[in-house]
Amino acid sequence: MARVIVTSALPYAYSVPHLGNFVGSVLPADVYYKYLRMNGDDAIFVCGSDQHGTPIELAAVKKGVEPAVLADEMHQTIKTLFERYECTFTYYGKTHTEENKEVAYSFFNELYNNGYISEHEDMQAYCNIDKRFLTDRFIQGTCPYCHKKSARGDQCDSCNRLLEPSQIIDPFCAICGKSDITFKKTKNLAFDLNKLQDELRDFIKRNGKYNWSRDAVNKSLSMIKEGLRPRDITRNMNWGFQVPLSGYENSRIYVWFDAVGGYIGITKEWDSRKWRDYWQNEHTQLVQFLGKDNTLFHTIIWPAMIIGSKLGFVLPHTIKESQFLNFEGKKFSKSNKVGIWLDEALRIMPADYWRFALMYAYPETADSDFTRRGFADAVDTIMNDKIGNFAQRVLKLAAANRQLVEQGIVPESEKRVKAELEKYTAAFGKLQLKKAIAAVVGLAEQGNRIMSEKEPWLLAKAAKTDAKAAGEAKDVFSSLIAITFALGVMLYPFTPEASRKLLAHFKVVAEPTLALLSGATELDLEREPKPLFSKLTADEMEKLRKYA
Ligand code: 2FM
Ligand code: ZN
Repeated sequence: MARVIVTSALPYAYSVPHLGNFVGSVLPADVYYKYLRMNGDDAIFVCGSDQHGTPIELAAVKKGVEPAVLADEMHQTIKTLFERYECTFTYYGKTHTEENKEVAYSFFNELYNNGYISEHEDMQAYCNIDKRFLTDRFIQGTCPYCHKKSARGDQCDSCNRLLEPSQIIDPFCAICGKSDITFKKTKNLAFDLNKLQDELRDFIKRNGKYNWSRDAVNKSLSMIKEGLRPRDITRNMNWGFQVPLSGYENSRIYVWFDAVGGYIGITKEWDSRKWRDYWQNEHTQLVQFLGKDNTLFHTIIWPAMIIGSKLGFVLPHTIKESQFLNFEGKKFSKSNKVGIWLDEALRIMPADYWRFALMYAYPETADSDFTRRGFADAVDTIMNDKIGNFAQRVLKLAAANRQLVEQGIVPESEKRVKAELEKYTAAFGKLQLKKAIAAVVGLAEQGNRIMSEKEPWLLAKAAKTDAKAAGEAKDVFSSLIAITFALGVMLYPFTPEASRKLLAHFKVVAEPTLALLSGATELDLEREPKPLFSKLTADEMEKLRKYA
């Protein structure tokens, strides 16, 4: 039994995540964590809202409220949404807490004492009207590359290039909209990543073999090869943790520093004693799910914090990087109204449907595309027809032919169950989640094949008068029941609600375990079989069409 910490990248408490964000980290992490629980592993699943950073401060300044109020409101909204999608975190916390501040400060102080933090002076944009430095997106203007007028100090949203505030053409302040800007001298603190690059290279080579996506290994090693440079870990802004050093009263710790540290801070918020048993334990496997835009923060900055601080925290064992999900061929974008957001999605269809269709389109090794047609196909022909209809037919046949139903069937003794279960556990063992869902579909296909080849309803009829047919019918029914039960268990990580409904027919009410498959089943013949899923209705298709 392994001890595992599963994490998902922390969503910004700035806006509701969209489907692309969800399938990039929280959903696959939740699927994997549910599997680990079924497998009996000692695992915790930690996530939470990333509450600091300039977007939240800017939004708060514009609204005239405290950033903490805005960040807590959005945190609640996101937390509730994830619950509605049946994500079963051990703890969903947030980064603006006392616990996380303690963690951030212990990283900071140890890195400082160990000589990895240095001071430097540079010139930063300053608004003479608002009397403040304009970090990141507080400064806006024209992009020096694509000449679109919507560039921000840190990035251009049109061409996606990373920018420095000094590069912006015709800059203006995002608060007052005026261009009364001067560049003033200020000091900041940088994390000397260059001093840790040999240790980082060794770490990536050592752990990169544990199911890391190749892309994550390659781009991290190539960044190190180019030579790491010191990276600022303070910002001239007002929202975030104070810098625990005198002379920096007007600065805050950079959001990414306490976001990655937030995995630990959130675990500490969960349990003030147990967090150490996971994080400071050399036997723990830290498995981290994230989108490819977050990779280098997790493979360079975060391990550098762990190595350089010498606090004995566990390094990432596995980096499960996802590629991007596009929406009908385009990038998700709030400003261009492209995509569906988590709150909107539940107004179209139930959580199980999204969970299944999104994992079916999971951009595991390459970008994938959400299309209305592809989505409807996954829901209608795969989930509803192959899996749901099959299970309901079996339960109905059993209810109508009780004399052919054997109780106490051991699902694993059915060879098709055994074979697909082996594929399923091997896939989860290698974190190949698309292969895992394919094994579930594969098992349903086997069941459907039995249905069409053996025609059990005819066997049942013949069994009434023919003893030989009765023997065969019982065998076929046993196989079908074993497969149906196994589907109920194997669906759990992907569609928890359908799993619950199906397993209720077998009197399983607790969270399922894989061990159930090697025990005896008991089919409740009094329970009325109802459809597990349904095809998309014209109304649902119409709602989808509005987005697509
Ligand atoms: O990209 C994002 O949404 C970031 N908030 C992810 C942070 S992951 C970790 F560092 F907390
Ligand atoms: Zn641009």
